[in-house]
Amino acid sequence: MSTNSLMEDKQAGEATAIIRSPANLALIKYWGKSDPEKNFPANDSLSFVFESFWTQCEISTHSHTTSDVWQLFEYTDKELFQPLNPTPNFFEKGKKQLERIRLACGDARALTIKIGNNFPHGCGIASSASSMSALTTAALSAYTRSNSMQQLASHGWPLGKVAALSRLGSGSACRSFLPGFSWWERGDSPESQSVSSIEVHPDLQIMDTLVLVSSTPKEVPSSTGHLSAFTSPLYSPRLEAIPERIALCQSYMLENSFDQLGSLCEQEALDLHAIAMSATPSANYLLPKTSDILTWVRKQRKSSGIRFYFTLDAGANVHILSRTEDSETVKNLVNRSFPALDLMQSGVGSGIKWMDKADWPRSEHPNFDSLKRTEGQQVYGV
Ligand code: DP6
Repeated sequence: MSTNSLMEDKQAGEATAIIRSPANLALIKYWGKSDPEKNFPANDSLSFVFESFWTQCEISTHSHTTSDVWQLFEYTDKELFQPLNPTPNFFEKGKKQLERIRLACGDARALTIKIGNNFPHGCGIASSASSMSALTTAALSAYTRSNSMQQLASHGWPLGKVAALSRLGSGSACRSFLPGFSWWERGDSPESQSVSSIEVHPDLQIMDTLVLVSSTPKEVPSSTGHLSAFTSPLYSPRLEAIPERIALCQSYMLENSFDQLGSLCEQEALDLHAIAMSATPSANYLLPKTSDILTWVRKQRKSSGIRFYFTLDAGANVHILSRTEDSETVKNLVNRSFPALDLMQSGVGSGIKWMDKADWPRSEHPNFDSLKRTEGQQVYGV
């Protein structure tokens, strides 16, 4: 084995690829699809990738068996990955995505898939974006023996094609590839949709403070909310307003107008939830504590003079956006007012990357033995 990110076992003709893919946060939200089968969005969205919240996926080919082996991990506060009991929803999505990858690659070899997030499950970070982009890129890299985006491109997998295949697993996954801020455009036809980098003012340094209100998986998955969005009477007006909002958001980022950007983010988050609640069937992702925090953010902003704003995904947890220089103060303010709630912070990151070495639990880890398996057996954790 070499120590390169693509580790090849030349004798056996097998390869291993390790990918770390960031979660991303939308400032202008993707809500509603023009094609639910292919996850073409009904509207443009603007997002950034996180520096510190990611999924790591290590995939190895193995020709000597016919079944895949899945090993799922979660990150603990001791900075160790532990086996994780997955949700059935994850497996359904993951297996379906592997079928698509195999079909697209024309390679049916079985795989060992180790995958884990470094943030708690169901915590309001759209983990399907980081996990589907990591899974897709790692599988394509192992099958094509690639250890960079350039190599994938030379094997017929340019970035746009990798992102498009990831999007079939989860729409927002196509926004996890590029560094910094991205614009996912819906285009005039489904085939013309694209993701591109957007330029922002160099002094626009943003930090997200994620307030964990609940880590219980939500009752209505985002995928279901997307489908009913168009039944809300608020939905058409939103679609009409989106081009102007996208333009405004881009100009605020370019001008470093943080207050205007923050107000727009709050408006977007509230729109998303108003639509979810007024759709049929209706979905209420918010908990009483969520509303408390939203009210608190607005009050504290006035009384403290510190500029921070909220945004939400389709979940109960609250993302508080501030300038990086204010993030320690924001953390202290939240801690003081909500001492029982956990916080996580991340700045803006640099996109997907190939890793040289995976930091997975080894056999000395107390739970790892229970993962030992017979060949070809699927391992779903302890
Ligand atoms: C509210 O990408 O998770 O987080 O395409 O069905 O997998 P699927 O949905 P997903 O939707 C994310 C919705 C959102 C807003 C956003 O991230 O833009």
